[in-house]
Amino acid sequence: MGLFSGKKGLVLGVANDWSIGWAISRFILEQGGEIGFTHLPDKPDDDKQKNRRRVEKCIQGFPGAKFLVPLDVQDDQQIRDVMKTTAEHFGKIDFLLHSIAYADRSDLQNETIETSREGFKMAMDISVYSLLAVCREARPVLNDHASILTMTYFGGEKIVPRYNVMGICKAALEAAMRYLAFELGPRKIRVNALSAGPIKTLAGSAAGVNDMMVLYEGMSPLGRNVTHDEVGRTGAFLLSDMSSGITAEVLHIDGGYNAMGAPGRLLDHFVPKAAVAKA
Ligand SMILES: NC(=O)c1ccc[n+]([C@@H]2O[C@H](COP(=O)([O-])OP(=O)(O)OC[C@H]3O[C@@H](n4cnc5c(N)ncnc54)[C@H](O)[C@@H]3O)[C@@H](O)[C@H]2O)c1
Repeated sequence: MGLFSGKKGLVLGVANDWSIGWAISRFILEQGGEIGFTHLPDKPDDDKQKNRRRVEKCIQGFPGAKFLVPLDVQDDQQIRDVMKTTAEHFGKIDFLLHSIAYADRSDLQNETIETSREGFKMAMDISVYSLLAVCREARPVLNDHASILTMTYFGGEKIVPRYNVMGICKAALEAAMRYLAFELGPRKIRVNALSAGPIKTLAGSAAGVNDMMVLYEGMSPLGRNVTHDEVGRTGAFLLSDMSSGITAEVLHIDGGYNAMGAPGRLLDHFVPKAAVAKA
């Protein structure tokens, strides 16, 4: 018997085997869960169908992976179609993972003050509004006591230079998560956010994770970065009955980085200990 034996769910936001969505899904599948997946739609005339193929490559060999359908969260009809497919395969589901974010690269590279109106709208639509839209359409297929999880980052709580417009999106996403937790609470449906430290992924590379990983290694209490496996297990925990008392929560999995109020051991690289002692 695995932690997810008899549990069924939907995962939105696997791009490839580096995706956080896949790290969480893999653990759930290994623990006996059944999952329906979505992929970013490919252009119909694109022979390679790269988006679909990449996700197919992840899920092959996992009997618990039950379907794979296209989804662009900017399209309400596609969201409804995914819920219809989910109902046909599973009836009801026990967990839902939203692991989706997008901002135009130029808006991420610009200073926040330069964010374009169109870029802002798109980033908020895909990265924040989609959680509301997906949860709304998922209501009929969600079991009472189901668990919903979204992925966030510390740049939504504090200034993280270069995270820029996505920081604003994450702040809004965390607020959306809390309101959803309140509104779905009467059905004992839980909604949480997992705030991961930098992890190498497609979206992560656009948001400059490599530099952040150096910082986390130097500054976090654990003195290292978190791994895909660790994020996978903690995400699965929040989607499982093991976390039944937790809702409306932002849980950090970042080696303790968010608790630091000063650069800590990182300072040793810039200010030799002897110099500090003399002063
Ligand atoms: N990588 C990190 O360091 C890190 C840290 C904290 C939080 N996160 C968050 O984790 C989540 C997953 O990102 P990731 O790092 O695994 O990268 P990823 O690129 O593997 O995943 C992002 C997913 O968003 C999907 N997506 C983008 N636009 C979409 C749209 N219009 N419709 C449907 N899906 C769409 C992509 O297809 C992809 O599957 C994001 O919310 C991200 O902000 C990432």
